[in-house]
Amino acid sequence: MKLHRLAVVGLASAATLLVATVAGAAAPPRGFHPPSDSLRGLAAPIGLRVGNAVNMDKLNVNAKYTGIVADQFSTVTPENVMKWDTIEPSQGSYNYAPADQLISFAQQHGQLVRGHTLLWHSQIPAWLTGGVNNGTISNAQLRDILKQHIISEVGHFKGKIWQWDVANEIFANSWDSSPLPDGINGGDFWISHLGEGIVADAFRWAHQADPKALLFYNDYNIAGQDGTNAKSDAVYAWVKQMLAQGVPINGIGEQGHLDTQYGFDGTKMQADLARYTSLGLKVAITEADVRTFVETTDGNQTPTDSLSQFAQPFEFDQMLKACLAVSSCISFTIWDVDDADSWVPSTFAGEGYSTLYDVNLNPKAAYTTLKQDLTLAAHGASHRIGTNS
Ligand code: G3I
Repeated sequence: MKLHRLAVVGLASAATLLVATVAGAAAPPRGFHPPSDSLRGLAAPIGLRVGNAVNMDKLNVNAKYTGIVADQFSTVTPENVMKWDTIEPSQGSYNYAPADQLISFAQQHGQLVRGHTLLWHSQIPAWLTGGVNNGTISNAQLRDILKQHIISEVGHFKGKIWQWDVANEIFANSWDSSPLPDGINGGDFWISHLGEGIVADAFRWAHQADPKALLFYNDYNIAGQDGTNAKSDAVYAWVKQMLAQGVPINGIGEQGHLDTQYGFDGTKMQADLARYTSLGLKVAITEADVRTFVETTDGNQTPTDSLSQFAQPFEFDQMLKACLAVSSCISFTIWDVDDADSWVPSTFAGEGYSTLYDVNLNPKAAYTTLKQDLTLAAHGASHRIGTNS
């Protein structure tokens, strides 16, 4: 559906009027004007939110980093500070301070917040895993502890979170040893102790604590990257069943962690995203990055393969276009602001160069490519629907 430019402008101002539901964060507050040619500025006409994962050790500490987060992104995700090990470092004692700082920063800069994450097998504090392993925490107690954690955390941030990644990375990959018949990872910490039903309960508890937040299932390689599409088929069948049982799931988050060595098919991602939305769900790209092999000299990450300089922005482009083509794709989030801040080098030996900014916080070709895509999209792509923002 091609919309004339004038109509788009009309829609944009209507959208701005519509969006003031999540407390005070929809439109930039008086006095803060993000550059119109920023990623967020260029995405605004079609109501798409563009975001990044924010490292709270750098926000309000590194001025250049902070400026980029404010100017470029209309949604933010806490990279680590809403995860269990930060939020509840010891049983029943909650540490919301770093996350609250991000929330107030977001409100001051007209950004919506993606909460990340409640039910995940990683970054679980030792008091919990230790108690389960040594038997001092029974499965019944583990279930109660999880319920209390979700209700406390979601309740604390009630009305301030746009999208919650309620459950993260629950489905098995081809290399996992104990996939269940429906594709869920039987070896997952929560599934192995509490059974599959715990995922639906997590969504019910999150909804109970904040009925307005959009509740997402978040995972990687669920948009065709596994080659067989098996993981996407499994997630699609599972969420369809959950919806039929009335489980309050509102969206699917495809993380979007890519690697140039594997190539990438944007049309497969578009098809899988569209298939999820055919169930009435929203979708989002939640953790986009494109890594490649690098040589690191004096901290600078230089691709070892000259073609990667083109493949990296190209794969970002293809991911964004897959999202733009699906009108219920309501946000596109990059994982980590710059290459020095990225999780990639400490996880994938010899790889890096995965974000939009180099190690000195200077924009890379991928940044310019996404700006071009958004500029074109403002003239053609359909306005996002069902953003609830
Ligand atoms: O906070 C401690 C600090 O006190 C300590 O001195 C330091 C040294 O060990 O570690 C710090 O914790 C690190 C934490 O990030 C905060 O920086 C952990 O070791 C480190 O493992 C953790 O890495 C995070 C990773 O998730 C953990 O699994 C990455 O920053 C974060 O980008 C990454 O994000 C995940 C998403 O949540 C889910 N999808 C995949 C994505 C990438 O793995």
